[in-house]
Amino acid sequence: MTEPQRTHSIAVLPGDGIGPEVTAAALAVLDAAQERFGFTTERTDVPLGADHYLSTGELLPDATVEELRGHDAILFGAIGSPTVTPGILERGIILALRRQMEQAINLRPVRLYDGVPTPIAGLTPERCDMVIVRENTEGAYVAQGSTVHAGTSAQVAVQESVNTWYAVERAVDFAFRLASVRRKKLTLCHKTNVLVEAGKLWTRAMEEVGARYPDVETDYVHVDAMCMHLPVNPERFDVVVTDNLFGDIVTDLGAVVQGGLGVAASGNLNIAGTGTSMFEPIHGSAPDIAGRGWANPAGACLSLSMMLGHLGEGEAAAAVEAAAAAVVAQLPALAGAEMGATTEELGRRIADLVRDGGAPAVEGSLMSQLAQVMAGLRDGS
Ligand code: NAI
Ligand code: MG
Repeated sequence: MTEPQRTHSIAVLPGDGIGPEVTAAALAVLDAAQERFGFTTERTDVPLGADHYLSTGELLPDATVEELRGHDAILFGAIGSPTVTPGILERGIILALRRQMEQAINLRPVRLYDGVPTPIAGLTPERCDMVIVRENTEGAYVAQGSTVHAGTSAQVAVQESVNTWYAVERAVDFAFRLASVRRKKLTLCHKTNVLVEAGKLWTRAMEEVGARYPDVETDYVHVDAMCMHLPVNPERFDVVVTDNLFGDIVTDLGAVVQGGLGVAASGNLNIAGTGTSMFEPIHGSAPDIAGRGWANPAGACLSLSMMLGHLGEGEAAAAVEAAAAAVVAQLPALAGAEMGATTEELGRRIADLVRDGGAPAVEGSLMSQLAQVMAGLRDGS
């Protein structure tokens, strides 16, 4: 008996600048993964971004949100353009999507692949393999607050940070699930000594949720100390769970440690089945290099790998990760003309390696661990 064909519907949102360039490379890699692993995708192009906004005035129309809801995942490039006031597209599209799709978790692997240069002297790949689980919906980013006496010397700004049991518990539970299929260590990163009220809620979640995962060791680190430990002792961390603001900051530090913008990947996950998850390289639209073939597609390809893990294609996810890691390991530089190959050519190299299975396997691939976690969430175990 042959297995039924697996089909996934993907919304492709290339965006602006280098977004379409790295997304095209990732789609070539997806073609290769489909051929080798025997699944298919139905792809819908969604033309959001600067051009669409300038010609129609639309950022994220309701009809588009509804259309995106009908897909299994969103593959996102980057958004932002010098032709549009900064913030309009970023807030109106990316942040709006994260909110409307209830993308509760921002997942950011910090892994130094073999052969990738890091600015941290002496750091080796064996010592740097962690995942940051950032709560993606609230904290200081709920945009609650007020200003009085604006523009005077008496101006007062109140900016609130909102933490609910609902969001914190689900982020912490997801982090425990991930730790369970990895090295079984979960660290809470916060500032409980100063942000006492929010700290109590996060600490309670670590204790109460942790009771359900007795084989996961737990640990705590203040966010300021994290900024010292992450670059110098990354081996201390396996899974790290943190709030929205701290997560925003420490994940950028993580990206630098792992080799920079060109190689860092991310996922915005809906873990409740109430919306569509979105996968994107962490870099922006890089207008300074757009149109030249100078963008490194590794971040986009690793985001594709994460998407495949999320869709349950664990083997394909691991193969794409391995191929992207093998190709960047051979580059003389990670960005620009010095890479020695264009974005398209690098996409082709990664695709070829996926097709022929020639890349050495990446041990403990987060991308395939994610497939396990998502399967557990789907069957309610
Ligand atoms: P950026 O990430 O686009 O670029 C920063 C620097 O890194 C540039 O010099 C760029 O050439 C380089 N770079 C970025 N990605 C690269 C890649 N894959 N390969 C080689 N080099 C790469 O950040 P920037 O310049 O601050 O922002 C540009 C636009 O992107 C703005 O409109 C910004 O708002 C937007 N943006 C969008 C994001 C998103 O779509 N998620 C995230 C960050 C910024
Ligand atoms: Mg950031």
